[in-house]
Amino acid sequence: MLIRPRRLRRSASIREMVRETAVFPSDFIAPLFVIHGNGAKEPIPSMPGQFRFSVDALGKEAMELRDLGIMSVILFGLPDAKDAIGSRSWADDGVVQRAVREIKEKVPSMVVITDVCLCEYTDHGHCGVLKGSDVDNDATVELLARQALSHAGAGADMVAPSDMMDGRIGAIRRALDAEGFKQTGIMAYSAKYASGFYGPFRDAADSAPQFGDRAGYQMDPANAREALREVRLDIEEGADIVMVKPALAYLDILRRVRMETLLPLAAYNVSGEYSMVKAAAQNGWIDGKRVMFEILTSIKRAGADLILTYFAREAAAELQA
Ligand code: PBG
Repeated sequence: MLIRPRRLRRSASIREMVRETAVFPSDFIAPLFVIHGNGAKEPIPSMPGQFRFSVDALGKEAMELRDLGIMSVILFGLPDAKDAIGSRSWADDGVVQRAVREIKEKVPSMVVITDVCLCEYTDHGHCGVLKGSDVDNDATVELLARQALSHAGAGADMVAPSDMMDGRIGAIRRALDAEGFKQTGIMAYSAKYASGFYGPFRDAADSAPQFGDRAGYQMDPANAREALREVRLDIEEGADIVMVKPALAYLDILRRVRMETLLPLAAYNVSGEYSMVKAAAQNGWIDGKRVMFEILTSIKRAGADLILTYFAREAAAELQA
């Protein structure tokens, strides 16, 4: 036989030599949940191996992540109080604002990204302010810009709007520039689908909508062209990095966006994708470590440069071992 592909699979060394895709700790963005209080590192039941940290406990976590080669974190805040407009999200003494300062003080090299959204901060759990039972787009965008400014003021390197309102990237860019934050970047959750895979996160961040769902602002899972449209708009409005979310059921979208833009592309390997692996591994049904690397590699292979993933710490530790 002239052609035998198995020749290149004969040994571990040959396989490594011809391997097309590799993941590195510097590809990962580690999500961190931040709460009020002192000395807290609270396990999240729906996400085994993940915790909610109080601000004073974040420095240690950030140092450990840095020592594992992780360059970046994204912060989610659980406020001390909620209201109809999510006003604790732009408070200077808010949990995310304090967390940014703490991490920047303890690990100045850490790239600190903040999730910009209202759902953790509103008493109704929607990602914006309500007009009747609908989320008012333009009123919400103003509040998101306020929140982004507050995060930038606290020292965030980048803000990451996850709300899926129209025009928010442009509005945030203009607000940042007007206040002198020209170097603060925007990582846009450009193609964010209305997904069942966010279940464990809403539990972790206490951000489930109290009525209805998010289908009026997040994307329909059936649509691919619409994702490209959203990505184009965010790029025109000034996004520095674009994102597809979730990752696994949307690898085709990742690939298409990869072909669409020259910008760095991020994928969010979301909570449900993480917790399914953990649950099956705990039952002995799959080899959790092996599946973790298979998933991370597939996301990279599909075209992502960066992966927001709850596996960040575990995968980085394995890569270092
Ligand atoms: C909204 C937000 C969500 C996630 C990230 N940002 C939840 C939602 O849209 O309901 C989900 C992340 C995950 O599931 O890991 N602030």
